[in-house]
Amino acid sequence: MILLNSEVGNYIISNGRKYSYFAGNNYLGLAGHPEVKAAVIKAVEKYGVNFAASRRTTGTADLHLELEGALAAFKGEEDAVVFASGYQGNSIILEILKGSYSTVFIDQSAHASIIAAIPADVVKVMYYEHCDADHLDYLLDYNRGSNPLVITDGIFALTGEIAPLDRIYPVIKKHNGLLVVDDAHSTGILGPTGKGTPEHFNLPADDVKIYQTETMSKALGGYGGFITGTSSFTGQIRDRSATYQASTALPPPIAAAGIASLAIVRDNPGLRTDLLNKAWRIREEVTSMGYETSHYRTPIIPVIMDTAGKADSLSLFLEEKGVIVPSMKYPVRKEMHQLRIAVSAIHTDDQINQLLDLLKKWKKENESN
Ligand SMILES: Cc1ncc(COP(=O)(O)O)c(C=O)c1O
Repeated sequence: MILLNSEVGNYIISNGRKYSYFAGNNYLGLAGHPEVKAAVIKAVEKYGVNFAASRRTTGTADLHLELEGALAAFKGEEDAVVFASGYQGNSIILEILKGSYSTVFIDQSAHASIIAAIPADVVKVMYYEHCDADHLDYLLDYNRGSNPLVITDGIFALTGEIAPLDRIYPVIKKHNGLLVVDDAHSTGILGPTGKGTPEHFNLPADDVKIYQTETMSKALGGYGGFITGTSSFTGQIRDRSATYQASTALPPPIAAAGIASLAIVRDNPGLRTDLLNKAWRIREEVTSMGYETSHYRTPIIPVIMDTAGKADSLSLFLEEKGVIVPSMKYPVRKEMHQLRIAVSAIHTDDQINQLLDLLKKWKKENESN
């Protein structure tokens, strides 16, 4: 477990040593962006640190409303509702959609927050094989007559794979289902304007109702979850979701971070392309070295090993040379032994070259035949 004594940037300080940092989810480098920091400092002076209340019981800060307006504008939706964490988003959505579905179909490798969100009284939960639209179709056929809701990650947190929504969408349409996409890792990253996985696949919004759960804690350099939609839908969340009503609202300075980050994302579309190009270069070189990885234009590059021991040994080797790439221990149903390279738009060519040289060296010393 790495101890951080600094901000999360492309470098970190740990126990007095500077490390090149390829971990976490600071994809656009906004967590420490000077404009985001300045907005937070200004908001702390005016609002203090904590809101210390549920918005339902107590009131709303003007910054909450400003952030919700900015998120709605970013997503091209009527309204947005923000809440304490992205993790809560899946619970909120399944809570609010109750009554419109009776069976839930989940990707086998879905994030823990999706599995934790299934309401206790849902009659049936089925897991389809990872990213397998044909298996989903088979399960939906087998359960004909149920009101299906399909829920999946947009980008999978560990492997950087993109859920094949282009193939899942027609299957759901055929079975009259609903689609929920947890786009925690895709917001600000995928799609021509960074709206996430549905935009990436250019999915039509009319035949299948698509809901996205999103977070500001990764590409958007702040913290907190959000859901966008019609004002009537966000109104239902505010009026009916216990998760929303019974938890403390985002600290206003964190809302200020979200507002500042969204302005940067809006004004700098090149950040996203730059990030994806850097990640693609690493992915291609990692593949050509003979490592097993996944092949998607996303900022998460797994290095898949056949044993946990090898994954730990490579991670330790990199750490000793001053580069952090964690070996993953994460609560998922289907465990893999892997390192997770997380790329950020602020990584320099020198950092990337160093990482690649070290990966090559380890491979040569440990796995060449
Ligand atoms: C797919 C996915 N959904 C939800 C979350 C939770 O988001 P947050 O950290 O904003 O609570 C995460 C990761 O943290 C995630 O990877």
